[in-house]
Amino acid sequence: MQQDLNQKIYVAGHRGMVGSAIVRNLQAKGYTNIVTRTHAELDLANQAEVKSFFEVERPNQVYLAAAKVGGIHANNSFPAEFIYQNLMMEANVIHQAFSSGVKRLLFLGSSCIYPKLAFQPMSESALLTGTLEPTNEPYAIAKIAGIKLCESYNRQYGQTHGIDYRSVMPTNLYGPGDNYHPENSHVIPALIRRFHEAKISNALEVVIWGTGTPRREFLYVDDMAAASVFVMELDKKVYDQHTELMQSHINVGFGSDITIAELAAKIATATGYAGNIKFDSSKPDGAPRKWMDSSKLNNLGWKPQTSLESGLKTAYEQFALSQK
Ligand SMILES: NC(=O)c1ccc[n+]([C@@H]2O[C@H](COP(=O)([O-])OP(=O)(O)OC[C@H]3O[C@@H](n4cnc5c(N)ncnc54)[C@H](OP(=O)(O)O)[C@@H]3O)[C@@H](O)[C@H]2O)c1
Repeated sequence: MQQDLNQKIYVAGHRGMVGSAIVRNLQAKGYTNIVTRTHAELDLANQAEVKSFFEVERPNQVYLAAAKVGGIHANNSFPAEFIYQNLMMEANVIHQAFSSGVKRLLFLGSSCIYPKLAFQPMSESALLTGTLEPTNEPYAIAKIAGIKLCESYNRQYGQTHGIDYRSVMPTNLYGPGDNYHPENSHVIPALIRRFHEAKISNALEVVIWGTGTPRREFLYVDDMAAASVFVMELDKKVYDQHTELMQSHINVGFGSDITIAELAAKIATATGYAGNIKFDSSKPDGAPRKWMDSSKLNNLGWKPQTSLESGLKTAYEQFALSQK
């Protein structure tokens, strides 16, 4: 379907890892009218500020990539902030988008919406079939609410107001713009930093928590951005044919997973670390496997373009540059 490249598109969270990749993708595709606001300029948890932003800007489309995100420690320590901030942002943006006439919106969720013991690979239909992982339950509940907000507005106003609000659920992401904080980062940026530092200091060994056997899936963030724009641009008939009114979200995964030990070996190669990698099996492993079923998106015609090796190489180059 022909896209209007001059339509006004608001990308919420454009300075984040995913939001910035979405802006890069839209610009590369020739979209000319992208609206952004920093957190300091517009607090999306503030209803009055969001209302006045939408009344003034009146975008045609919205990508909702702003969220309060964090690892297990942050989620466990600040559960009230995680549920409150995310619920407020979603409710404000989705409701004010509707009120100001936004016809199409894309909400970004997360694979943590699925039950802790979901059948692998996790398909869209696993949503609300079991108990969530307790450490990030408040965050996951807010993400589920985001999907249900989109669906409820579609159900109530889809026919009368022509709105079409969609959701995508990414697997673990990595790449430019990632958080490399020494204590509070995801597995890929954490290992990139540790192997880089081990290489610089000529350390003989890097010790990794757990047995190295859990399997995880990783997607390069520019592939996630491409998938987001792909889903946003889908013709309504096609989107509706592949989703249901009350199960409208689409998984975005890489398609295959690897063990933490295999991942560590690839990151050692990408960073040039040549020492030993040791696994401390006295430390916890987490879930044995977290792998998304992306067949719905694949059947719609989308596939990732970036291999793990090449994505890790680019991620490391960017990280190494930032350390100079
Ligand atoms: N990273 C992953 O591996 C991953 C995996 C699955 C799903 N996702 C999803 O993808 C989305 C984006 O994640 P990300 O990794 O890009 O996160 P990120 O890098 O932390 O970016 C989030 C952005 O949202 C902004 N933000 C937070 N609270 C705000 C508020 N109250 N008002 C305005 N802006 C606010 C942040 O600005 P400040 O920094 O200034 O607060 C930041 O720019 C999230 O919904 C997340 O659940 C990410």
